[in-house]
Amino acid sequence: MALAPLTTLGVGGPARWFVEASTEAAVSAALGWAREQRIPVLVLGGGSNLLVADRGVEALVLRVRVAGITAERRGDVMLVEAGAGERWDDLVARAVTEGWAGIECLAGIPGDVGATPIQNVGAYGQDVAGAIVHVRTIERASGKVVEMSAAECAFGYRDSVFKRAAKGLLVVTRVTFALRPGGAPGVRYAELAKQLGSNGSPSLSEVRATVLALRKSKSMLLDPGGENGQSAGSFFMNPTLDDAELARVAARVASSGVLRAGEAMPSHPANEGRTKLAAGWLIERAGFGKGAGTGRVGLSTKHALAIVNRGGATAAEIVAFARTVKEGVRDRFGVELHAEPVLVGFSLEETAGLITDG
Ligand code: EPU
Repeated sequence: MALAPLTTLGVGGPARWFVEASTEAAVSAALGWAREQRIPVLVLGGGSNLLVADRGVEALVLRVRVAGITAERRGDVMLVEAGAGERWDDLVARAVTEGWAGIECLAGIPGDVGATPIQNVGAYGQDVAGAIVHVRTIERASGKVVEMSAAECAFGYRDSVFKRAAKGLLVVTRVTFALRPGGAPGVRYAELAKQLGSNGSPSLSEVRATVLALRKSKSMLLDPGGENGQSAGSFFMNPTLDDAELARVAARVASSGVLRAGEAMPSHPANEGRTKLAAGWLIERAGFGKGAGTGRVGLSTKHALAIVNRGGATAAEIVAFARTVKEGVRDRFGVELHAEPVLVGFSLEETAGLITDG
């Protein structure tokens, strides 16, 4: 089964085995089969955050298509349960139409509901961790249902227990969100507030529309035919540094002569007293401007953080280009960037340094 067409980057070889499961029982049965055959399992959702190696994957690729959205009012909140296979953007659209606040800033993000808790999908001042109540999963080893509370999910910036202690152990089948009927939209991101301008009390749908326009201006909407259409969104996470690291990097930036007159390096406070830097800015100032790269792989012409398959690229070319960018940023500013998409089918050497070890 060819995997490239099932990913938004559009590269990579085939899956040795492939199955689609639209019920929890089918997920469980597929896991049972793989267990008996001693075959590894790769869970596939919308394929928007996945880079598959050219050699493909010697695994059972399990595409989770569990569908259905149910809503139940509990006091002030609407508990909304969505199947892992529902399209995330459809859920956001539904919530906005119904007047349920809490995920409106997450409009226009490609992929399926089931993938959102894994990396705690976030944008424009919201993340799914802010709305998730629990995540229903199937344990790979036993085929049994395991409910994970939000606390057990241990959400962080683009991070959760599913990428750490529970990595490879659970398959998400349903996610329950607590949304606020009639609630006000979240407008916390400076760029979003600026775009909304004098509209001090925007509606959910105005916020959603503004986010969609912002994402479109950065080519961060699904647009398979567009010039930046084949990408996995942000290719690197924004680095978060402690004070000592920040001081070191700020000094490197100041002495490298990349700051324009009166300009400061963009940064935001992050959790635990750390500071988040803008990887897109670091990439540009390390000499990789928007649209950089020759050949079939390069940076998006609208956003330096997205690596784009311009057509006919291989996974190896994408990894090589990502490494060039990473090394350029490290050499210039002493900052290590780590890939945000999940890389599968590669050897350890091929991805060394590109992925975090969590
Ligand atoms: N910047 C540049 N050049 C660029 C892009 C960004 O200099 O080409 C600088 C600017 O200073 C800008 C700052 O970076 O002010 C932040 O840029 P932006 O608002 O576009 O956000 P981002 O940090 O690059 C993150 C998420 C996106 C999310 C946006 C909006 C990560 C890795 N990425 O990007 O998520 O849509 O914020 O909230 O956290 C994704 O994860 O795939 C993704 C698209």
